[in-house]
Amino acid sequence: MGLFARAREIALAEASPTGEGRSFDFRGGGGRIVWIICVRRVFVTPQVSLRDMVAGDLPIFFEQQLDGEAGRMAAFTAKDPRDRAAFDARWAKILAEPSIRKATVLVDGRVAGQILGAEQFGRPSVCYWIGREFWGKGVATAALREFLARVETRPIYARAAADNAASIRVLGKCGFVECERDRGFAVARGEEIEEVVMRLG
Ligand SMILES: CC(C)(COP(=O)(O)OP(=O)(O)OC[C@H]1O[C@@H](n2cnc3c(N)ncnc32)[C@H](O)[C@@H]1OP(=O)(O)O)[C@@H](O)C(=O)NCCC(=O)NCCS
Repeated sequence: MGLFARAREIALAEASPTGEGRSFDFRGGGGRIVWIICVRRVFVTPQVSLRDMVAGDLPIFFEQQLDGEAGRMAAFTAKDPRDRAAFDARWAKILAEPSIRKATVLVDGRVAGQILGAEQFGRPSVCYWIGREFWGKGVATAALREFLARVETRPIYARAAADNAASIRVLGKCGFVECERDRGFAVARGEEIEEVVMRLG
C-alpha cells in the first residue's frame, strides 16, 4: 500500500474508530478534517514499528520506569520504581511467559517503549508505556493499533487512571470505549483513585 493510501486509512480509522464515519465524502467538511489528519500523519508522525522484545531492551524500560511523571500517569506501578532487582525479577517472568504477548515499540529504529497483552482481573487486557521523549507524536496510538492487529482476542480490555487523559485518548483512537469505572490503590500516588475500564470488541 502506498504511503498516501496508508495515511488515508489511518486518518479514517482515527476520525472514526468504530467505522461509522468511513463513508466520509472527502470533498465535504468531514473530508477536510480527514485531509488535515492525513497531512499530519504523513509529515509529522515518526516511523513506528513493533518487534519481539529482548532482554537487551530492559535497561531502557527501567530508565522509563524511573520517570516520575510517567509513573504518576500510569499510577498502578511497581512499589519502588528504583528497585532494579524487583524490576528484573518481574520482567524475567514476563519474558519467559508465553501466554503474555509482548512487543517492543520502535520509533525510527530506536526503542521507545513497550506493549503487553496479558490477563488482568481475569480478562484479556493491554497496557503500554512510551518513553517521554516520544510523547505527543502519535507513537502509542500507532503502536497499539499495530499490536491489536496482531492480537486478535476480542473483547480485549484496558484500564487507565481516570485522569490519564492521554492514555484514554489513545485507547479511544484505537476503538476502545469506556465500559466500567473501578477504584484501586495507585502505588505511584499513595492513594486510592478512580480507574476507567475500556473495552474493544
Ligand atoms: C499515555 C502514553 C502511552 C501516550 O503516549 P503518546 O505516544 O504520547 O500518545 P499519542 O501521541 O499516540 O496520543 C496521545 C493523545 O492524547 C492527547 N493528550 C495528551 N495529553 C493530554 C491531556 N492532558 N488531555 C487530553 N488529551 C491529551 C494527545 O493530544 C493525543 O491525542 P491527539 O492525537 O488527538 O492529539 C504515554 O504518555 C505514556 O506512556 N505515559 C506513561 C505510562 C502510561 O500512562 N501508560 C498507560 C497506562 S494506562
